[in-house]
Amino acid sequence: MSPTDGMPRETLRVAIVGHVDHGKSTLVGRLFHDTGSLPEGRLEAIQETCRRRGMPFEWGFLTDALQGERNQGVTIDAAHIWFKSPLRDYVIIDAPGHKEFLRNMITGAAQADAALLLIDAAEGVQEQSRRHGYLLHLLGITQVILVINKMDRVDYDRTRFAEIERDYCAYLSELGVVPRYVVPISAREGDNIAARSDNMAWFEGPTILEALDRFEPPPPPPDLPLRFSIQDIYKFDDRRILAGRIEVGILRPGDLLLFSPSNKTARVATIESWNAESPLEAHAGESVGITLDDQLFVERGEMASHVDRPPIESNVFRARLFWLAREPMERLRPYKMKLNAAEAEVRLQSIERVIDASSLATTAGDRIEQNAVAEVVLRSPTMLGLDEYSVSPRTGRFVIVDDYRIVGGGVIDMEGYPDQRALITVKSTNITAVRHGVGADERWRRNNHRGGVLWFTGLSGSGKSTLAQATEHALFQRGYQAYVLDGDNVRGGLNANLGFSPEDRAENIRRVGEAAALFADAGIIVLTAFISPYRADRERARDASDRVVSKETFREVHIKADLAVCESRDPKGLYVRARKGEIPDFTGISAPYEAPEEADLVIDTSDQTVETCVDQIVSYIDESFSYTQ
Ligand code: ADX
Repeated sequence: MSPTDGMPRETLRVAIVGHVDHGKSTLVGRLFHDTGSLPEGRLEAIQETCRRRGMPFEWGFLTDALQGERNQGVTIDAAHIWFKSPLRDYVIIDAPGHKEFLRNMITGAAQADAALLLIDAAEGVQEQSRRHGYLLHLLGITQVILVINKMDRVDYDRTRFAEIERDYCAYLSELGVVPRYVVPISAREGDNIAARSDNMAWFEGPTILEALDRFEPPPPPPDLPLRFSIQDIYKFDDRRILAGRIEVGILRPGDLLLFSPSNKTARVATIESWNAESPLEAHAGESVGITLDDQLFVERGEMASHVDRPPIESNVFRARLFWLAREPMERLRPYKMKLNAAEAEVRLQSIERVIDASSLATTAGDRIEQNAVAEVVLRSPTMLGLDEYSVSPRTGRFVIVDDYRIVGGGVIDMEGYPDQRALITVKSTNITAVRHGVGADERWRRNNHRGGVLWFTGLSGSGKSTLAQATEHALFQRGYQAYVLDGDNVRGGLNANLGFSPEDRAENIRRVGEAAALFADAGIIVLTAFISPYRADRERARDASDRVVSKETFREVHIKADLAVCESRDPKGLYVRARKGEIPDFTGISAPYEAPEEADLVIDTSDQTVETCVDQIVSYIDESFSYTQ
């Protein structure tokens, strides 16, 4: 008896990537045949047809025939183009061209757990092969077998194999793709596919089938965190029923649920069922209704999770996106995104890279043409509950729609951007604010100026600290109450427990935003000198001033200098070290900086003296904050 007897067999989905001439369909045909997965008589039938037509038989014919049948299936899931090993079943995901392939993969129509990357031993590594490697990076597939085919054409030469392995692996490692196995084969002759080859006795690694069997299966759904997307809310008697679909995981009565993006919590009271008693649990793929123990106002489109493994809260994220519409996707235009049951507006904040889907060539540009793939940063005016595709493939992808038509699709990645949930979670309870004994206008009258926050933002080395200190001095001379809050100082005390991860930076700015608002309320002109790379954080700092004092209190000042200028100044020698890889997450080099789009004041420091800049800032403050009765 095999150990899997009696258990449902698992399926691994394998993408096959490679140039058509490098033997893709021969390999697929062989895999089916050599694993004994072909229907009775199928091979003979095709061989017979070849004989009748006077054509030599090729394995590719067999694959074409199987593919033809599959294409008549309604979906890839419903069709069976699979082969078996003693361990499990395999589904091959192939597509006639990159375009279809990318579209299917990115929109989630097809998802691969592993990939076979095919190279021709005679031709070696070519531009096209490099692009195929890039494709895997783009799709985030990490279980990769590099297959060096047509070894028969190079006399099964070990040196040739080693040469290609070395060159190509070096290229792949630049992309962060590390093949788990590199296997020399001849698909035509059947070497090292399901059976070990006598022609390559020097090769000690696994056959393709052995290598595939060593891959891990996708994690079973119960191990993945619960995602229950709310599609509708019904009032039924006096109950509110939240109806939705369990995308991933298991939901049970009594579970404490967290709703995103609203960030509210409540317990599941019942799982409603049309026919009978309340079920004890509901599973991935089921559509159910639930009631809560608390009458929360939850909106359609929210995602419910367990409290300990929630989605990420953010209004900005990275995406690998596939664009389908004839009209290109453009910056600054609003688009409608559908993410699970939610709909939200998004705009392209930046386009990092555009890849032509047919040639896979990388191009630069500020629009995304039809059938191109792009690595982008998207921003929404509202908070979203997001999953990263690499963590939760089912919920980590979205589509862009225009009039009910899908015009693009993508997968989510948060690299360099923080989960903002901690910043919007209020933990204090039983709080009652008290009024101050001294009114704001009494302070203003005594100082002859209002309190205010001058929020300096800019790259490291742009001049924030220098200008803040010089401005503080100049203001003091003019009789102002002024004080600088500087990143390097505050990080030695109040924020000494924070580093430079996206979340720590966001918390750094949250605290300083709150502290600055209090200083301003105390009647002081506060000059803050922090990189503050994220727009959302600066907006929160503005909101803090608005809440504590008033909207006009907060002024965003962009201390502007190009990365090249800052790098050439490098006052603390940090850029040199960051370039050497000694400082991770360094702003501008390996971490993002989101420049303000509409700063209240822009000070260009690249070609102006400190004095000129200070004059500009001081006159702006005179204009904005002086107070006379
Ligand atoms: S912020 O991003 O959280 O706003 P902040 O202004 O407080 O940064 O601190 C920036 C200062 O920390 C820089 O001027 C630099 O001296 C130092 N620093 C150390 N590590 C980094 C890093 N990885 N990225 C940027 N600045 C860093």
